Amino acid sequence: MTNKGRIFSGVQPTGNLHLGNYLGAIRNFVNLQHDYEAIYCVVDLHAITVWQDPKVLRANTREIAAAFLAAGIDPTKSIIFNQSQVSAHANLAWIFNCVSRLGWLNRMTQFKDKAGKNRENASTGLYAYPNLMAADILAYKATHVPVGEDQKQHLELTRDIAQKFNNDFGVDYFPLTEPLILGTSTRVMSLRDGTKKMSKSDPSEYSRISLMDGPDELQQKVRKAKTDPLPVPDLEALDDKREITADVKAERPEAVNLIGIFSTLANQTTEETVKEYGGQPFSDFKKALTDVAVERLGPIGTEMKRLMADEGHVDAVLKDGAERAAAIAEPILNEVQDIVGFLRP
Ligand code: TYM
Repeated sequence: MTNKGRIFSGVQPTGNLHLGNYLGAIRNFVNLQHDYEAIYCVVDLHAITVWQDPKVLRANTREIAAAFLAAGIDPTKSIIFNQSQVSAHANLAWIFNCVSRLGWLNRMTQFKDKAGKNRENASTGLYAYPNLMAADILAYKATHVPVGEDQKQHLELTRDIAQKFNNDFGVDYFPLTEPLILGTSTRVMSLRDGTKKMSKSDPSEYSRISLMDGPDELQQKVRKAKTDPLPVPDLEALDDKREITADVKAERPEAVNLIGIFSTLANQTTEETVKEYGGQPFSDFKKALTDVAVERLGPIGTEMKRLMADEGHVDAVLKDGAERAAAIAEPILNEVQDIVGFLRP
């Protein structure tokens, strides 16, 4: 077994965990745990940047932990825990609030999207959110962070914070973390609108596939997924890198999205998928997509439901994970405090 470095990644417990979270992130977490030391976090501190009902937050935290386990993360090898239970995250985030610049945060597109028009009423936590994310990663000096494409800007900010910290204090302490944006589904789009990201907050249930959807829901959602009247794109839609051309992506976003989802679920390349289904009507392709979705997601959903009924087990995994995470983060936080000049009598 090779150890290529240390991975950290997080998922917010804000409900409606969906196929984008699975294909863009969690599925990669599972594959990467063999090659890296892996730390996977349910980021409850991030969740409360938008108000959460306490009861629902607790349930959603267990839901994400259950999803990690059901997807195949091995809690004896990798660390699974919830962020609020390791105080180094909040501690380091404060230090980073003082390193990060207003100008940097002002450029964050996720804040703009989430705060919407009513910016004055957004929480200060939502604004400082990327600083906490940098703290999550750097509290473990993680070298790599697997995420979907939408987190790329936050990871650039994490590098900026690490670099400024190192410069400000004249040290070579924090690593410049590399994003791992892997696979054919780094940006899964809404099933109702191929120009919008599949998201937890979309009001339409039909816009996303939930990890706990059963066969009937999967079939219905795939059948109703928006497409265009043309058949499945064929090999002519590919460029020299054997990926779908930018023109086809722009003209047929829904069709391209379904091809991406199918390819990832079936563990095959885009080229293999268009070779197999190119020229066929979408109704046939959707049947194949439903079959592979039921085959791949069905067991995960069933296991998630089983685990969510076993709170004791999930809580024990989180507790053990928090202890192991703290054992890594605490010494790092202490070193940072020394670098900054905090007296530790
Ligand atoms: P969150 O909870 O929104 O999403 C969890 C992961 O799922 C990915 N993702 C997607 N991938 C492909 N297509 C989509 N439609 C899609 N939607 C979401 C996200 O990119 C992410 O990898 N800020 C983070 C959580 C976080 C974090 C961290 C991540 C907090 N601290 C430190 C990495 C490292 C977030 O809101 O993810």
